[in-house]
Parts: sequence; structure tokens; C-alpha cells
Amino acid sequence: MKINVVQKQIQALPADALIVNLFEGVTIPAGATGAVDSALGATDGIPGDGAVSRLIRLGDFKGRHNEVAVVYTNGMIPAPRVILAGLGRKEHFSLDRVRQASGVAARKARDLGCKRVTSVVHGGGMGGLDVRAAAQATVEGALLGAYQFREYKTNGDSELKEIADFTLVEFNPGRFQAVNQGARDGEIIASGANTARTLINRPPNYLSPGMLADYCIEMAARVRIACTVYTEKEIAENKMGGLQAVSQGSANAPRFVILDSMPGGRGQPLVYVGKGVTFDTGGISLKDPAGMENMKADMGGAAAVIGALQAIGELGLPQRVIGLVPLVENMPGGRAFRPSDVITMMSGTTVEIISTDAEGRLILADALHFAKRYEPGGVVDLATLTGASIVALGEGIAAGLFSNSEKWAERILQSARQCGERMWQMPLFAEYGEKIKSDVADIKNSTGRTAGVGTSAYFLKRFVETEHNKDAYRWAHVDMASMMFSTENKGYQPRGAIGYGVRTLVELARSQE
Ligand code: BES
Ligand code: MN
Ligand code: ZN
Repeated sequence: MKINVVQKQIQALPADALIVNLFEGVTIPAGATGAVDSALGATDGIPGDGAVSRLIRLGDFKGRHNEVAVVYTNGMIPAPRVILAGLGRKEHFSLDRVRQASGVAARKARDLGCKRVTSVVHGGGMGGLDVRAAAQATVEGALLGAYQFREYKTNGDSELKEIADFTLVEFNPGRFQAVNQGARDGEIIASGANTARTLINRPPNYLSPGMLADYCIEMAARVRIACTVYTEKEIAENKMGGLQAVSQGSANAPRFVILDSMPGGRGQPLVYVGKGVTFDTGGISLKDPAGMENMKADMGGAAAVIGALQAIGELGLPQRVIGLVPLVENMPGGRAFRPSDVITMMSGTTVEIISTDAEGRLILADALHFAKRYEPGGVVDLATLTGASIVALGEGIAAGLFSNSEKWAERILQSARQCGERMWQMPLFAEYGEKIKSDVADIKNSTGRTAGVGTSAYFLKRFVETEHNKDAYRWAHVDMASMMFSTENKGYQPRGAIGYGVRTLVELARSQE
């Protein structure tokens, strides 16, 4: 989908579909929707007399949130159809409603086979939002909403429906520049999220740790950021015991990827860490086969970090951001690590393995220890870490956030809110630390039936600490296990991988303290 911006009146433009909008409760449309309505009236120019108004009077379109309708224009304007996107009630309006309306409308246009689609900037006029942000959200919604994953469909182009050109129109010349900038940002950021979705949707036989590391090298070259890949050799030299233990049962060797948006850049960098288990069978503590196919998404945290660094590179942000991505495949086998093994982590801490299925925390621990060398201004790790977090927060509803700093947590929550990525703070009580004490090693990687989310977060916290029990940096952990996949088409989220976290990470890097 190519994104364009023009300064014109929308009703005069040639396209396969025009996208305009309506707030719920409005009976006589104004602005661009009004202009299109008037052009579709028998008595040209009289407000409330056009095809759109008639649809509203009939009660066939109410402007509800995520509602969409199609009006055929019978040759009265160059475009053969107008897609109406509902914005919901004005008092509930937000940037995320813009994304959703744009996503629903773009998907509708795509399904109708439209190639050239022209849209207003939702919320920039009557909605009263900042125009640049509204343009960004409109483009994000369209790109995210019309996303599809077709890499393994052999019927190829014969079934392919795809929007080729998506054009934003802004009539007011004074706002054109802001719309242009917002559209560019939106394109870059949504592409980052779609990259994450594609990596998650891609099956593990086409995405081993080595293949994902190679993808990082290619992506980094494309967006001009630095990329270093540790293979088994460097992982061993650095004594990354967590990565070694988890990966040793797999024929696919581990990798540790370091992405850097500004090598040698001044000031304290942000460090983003992403769990990259390309497939999680559970290892010797083998998972139930029912639903195991979803474990191809166990690199969702890694995908978020990779997508975010892609976007940060393309945006050319002044903030230095480093992405750390430990990559492994968790398999059972003759060389696999086992319950009761004791392993020594990069930090020197010893860990008793209770469950080989609690593998994510082991690879994240080494990455969090590694992060200390950068003296970061803040660290965020993202991980599909626990089934317990899905039980706590609900599938597709929200991710859990843990932090050793209230200020840092608030900044991340604020960034997530801005993007419409649901996140909810959870506690890091000291009692969770008591529960992970081991009889034979310093700590153990799994505990009893309860407190599964808190103990996993506390395990990670132990690797943020230095020898003197002090936190080395401001840190937050996002357990995004509930945000792997969407089971339905909704707003700007099609069925399949969500690509959760990319937009929040980019927003966090863009936001100033
Ligand atoms: N990748 C899983 C967590 C997960 C489970 C994500 C289901 C999405 C859906 C993780 O590695 C895992 O297996 N966690 C265990 C931890 C337990 C053994 C302490 C879990 O949640 O059961
Ligand atoms: Mn597991
Ligand atoms: Zn896992």
C-alpha cells in the first residue's frame, strides 16, 4: 500500500472508493462528509439533501463506533462509491477511534476489491484532535487494518485483493504540512508493527533463531542501524548460561542479536529486550499438544523489539535505542536441559531448573544482565512469558506491566495509552522473591501453582540487580502472553498476530521526559 497526501476537495477526486466519516447522532453531515453528501444530492448544494443524509434518515447508518456503510454514487462524482466510517459518540472520541475507523474502512475497501482509495483525515476537523496525530492515526489504521499474511498461500495473485494507493486528502492548505508529516510517521510506525506481525505469523520451520537473526541483519542494513549477531561461539564466550541451556536440546543453534540505532551516540540509551523463543515445545517439561501451534508466537517480544527498531531507524529519532534479542528454540531431545539441572547464568547467579517450560525468563535474564554495560536511561523487556498472565488479564485484553520505578512505569503506560495498546500495572511484592528461593541453587525458575505472574517478574528483577542488591537501572517488564493473536477482525486488528508492543516502544522513544 503506497501512501500519498494531496491538498484537494475530496468529492472531486477519482478513486475506487472515497472514505469519509460520521459521528454517532449527527443527522446533517458537515465538513468533507457534508461536501460529499451535497455532491450526491439532487439539488446540489443544499445541506442534508444528499445520499449520505438519506442513509442516515433511513436509519441504515448511525455512525456507531466500528460501523461501516457503502454508498454508490451513480456517476454524480468521479468515484463510484463512498465508504462511511462511524466514529461513535463525540464524547468518547480518541486517537484510537481514528485508527479503528480507518482500519474498518480500509478493510472494507480492500474486500470490495478497491485498488485506489482516498480518505479524509479522521478527527482532524470536527473531532478536534491535533491534525498531525490524526493523520498519523488514519494512516496507521489503514495499514494495520488492511494487513494480510499470505506468504504460504499458493493461489498467489489470483485471489489477491490489495489496496495499491491510499491517498489522504486535506482541503486546508494551512494544515497540509502537518498531515504530510503525520502520514509519514504513521506509515513508518505501522510498517514496524506489520513487520512484527509477519515475523510472528511466519512458522518456526521458516524462522529458526539463525533465520530471524539473518532477518535482523537485512533489516538493519535497510534502515541504517547497527546490528551485531552473537552465534553459539560468542554466546559461550560470554557465558550466557540461560541461552545455552534452553537451546541445547534443539538442532537449531541460538543467537543473540544486538541492534543499535546510534552506535557511540551520546547520552543514556534506552534498551529494549525481547523474548525470542522461535518455538516453545516446553522442552522435557513438554506442553500439552492442544494449542501448541500458537507457540510459534513465543518470539512476540523479539518481534516487537525488531519492529520498533526498524521504525526508530526509519524515523531517524535523536534518542539512542538499543535492542537486545536472545533467540532460541525450546525442544526436548537427547541433549536437552532437564528439570533439576543447575545452570550458571551470565551474571554468575545459579538457577535450579524446575520446569524446562519456564525458559523465557532464562534467556531474558542473560539479556537483562548484558544490558548493564550500556548504563541505560531505561530498560523495557517484552515477553510472552506466562500463561498465568492470560488468566489474570484475559486473552487479547491487556498486557501486564511490572517496574522497579513508578516514574518509568508511568511513562510506559502513558506511551501505551497514546497508541491504544492496552497495558495494566501489576505488583512486584518482595514475597514473590521469597517464593523463588531454591534449596540447591540461588534461585529456581518455577514455583507452585499460585503467583505465576509475580514470581516470573521477580525472577527477572534478580538480573537487573547488581551484587549489592541494588537495581542497576530503571526497568520495566511487559508480560504480553495475552496479546499474541486476535481471533477476530476488529477495528485495525485483523485475525492473526497482533504485533503488540511496537507502537508503544516507538512512542516511548519519541516522547521527551
Ligand atoms: N511461552 C510460555 C507462556 C505462554 C503460555 C504464552 C501460553 C502464551 C500462551 C512460557 O514459556 C511458559 O511455558 N510458561 C509457563 C511457566 C511455568 C512453567 C512456570 C506457563 O505459563 O505455564
Ligand atoms: Mn515455556
Ligand atoms: Zn515460552
